[in-house]
Amino acid sequence: ALHPVIMAGGSGTRFWPLSRKARPKQFLPLASKNPLISDTVSRLKGLATVKDTLIVCGPSHAKQAVKLVKGLPKKNLLVEPVARNTAPAIALAALAVAAKDPEGILVVLPSDHHVADTKGFQRILSEAARVAAGGHLVTLGITPQRPETGYGYIQVGAVLPGGGRQVKAFREKPDPETARRYVDSGEYVWNAGIFIFRADAILAAFDEHMPEMRKGLDTLRKAVGKRTFPAVLKRVFPKLPSVSIDYGVMEKAKNLAVLPGDFGWSDVGSFSAIPEVRPADEHGNVVSGPEAVVVDCKGCVVLADKRPLAVVGLTDMVVVDSGDAVLVVPKDKSQDVRKVVESLKARK
Ligand code: GDD
Ligand code: MG
Repeated sequence: ALHPVIMAGGSGTRFWPLSRKARPKQFLPLASKNPLISDTVSRLKGLATVKDTLIVCGPSHAKQAVKLVKGLPKKNLLVEPVARNTAPAIALAALAVAAKDPEGILVVLPSDHHVADTKGFQRILSEAARVAAGGHLVTLGITPQRPETGYGYIQVGAVLPGGGRQVKAFREKPDPETARRYVDSGEYVWNAGIFIFRADAILAAFDEHMPEMRKGLDTLRKAVGKRTFPAVLKRVFPKLPSVSIDYGVMEKAKNLAVLPGDFGWSDVGSFSAIPEVRPADEHGNVVSGPEAVVVDCKGCVVLADKRPLAVVGLTDMVVVDSGDAVLVVPKDKSQDVRKVVESLKARK
């Protein structure tokens, strides 16, 4: 069976004032009426069941996650005592799956992305599962749009006998110059951050490429399914290295495969990505809120809460009212919103 693993540990400081510590990006309805995490699960309907879905998140977000993912069995919620980035989070899920189904296939999904073409997405996931069944660690590749430095880059090689393409190199978050070179070469795709692999294959990869996790994972493996597991987890998990799967495994593993595909992927990285994932008016404005008004605006993102919000004569601006805070920022500066959170924190 396919085991979706939803990673919901992120904080998403670029969506202030909508996102707060208690309500990070994955819990916001940024792309549709539903929070991103709910769409992430419903997008898999027909391919996998909620019963086989695991959610990995921190203690402060567990309640919201259960509430938003309808029908999730309580035991499918894996709560990390502390955030240790994606390698330990994925290892935890892999151990849970491997205990019952060692060759079971994990479909690891970020909880805060948008996919426009659900059918195309399911098609590529089915193919990825076939390739992963042969033991490969499968990644999905997106045609790069710009020399983005916040992504991983995958150099695409020859077609593999078992399907998918060989990965000549995986490079996480290159500097701007390198990213530019990669995009210009035409040989690279973006890593979508979605991974498909067998539980035993990823556990073997952790053993090989992250030996510093070996002892901890061994201890956890022995405790899976036992009454003592929560206590063991609390003791062992904080000692695991805080490393992402991209740096920890993907940059090093030799048995990678990539499936390039375009399924309307967006990681909804900041307010400037909202027009990619939500319908705009004929002037390119995305306006939301029962009493939001725009007059003579172009390319603006205007998100209102319950009270009236009016924007007049602006171009390419973001104006957001969350009810208790207001943000105004030019669209091309929306990455800098995370600095707001930093300076608010510094004030306390
Ligand atoms: N449970 C859990 N615990 N989830 C986590 C943790 C953690 O400690 N840290 C991050 N996550 C979740 C985030 O919520 C997000 O859904 C996903 O894991 C990826 O983490 P990000 O922090 O958003 O990674 P990134 O955006 O810097 O980079 C990754 O995604 C890019 C595409 O969006 C990489 O895989 C890149 O290579 C990729 O291009
Ligand atoms: Mg991300």
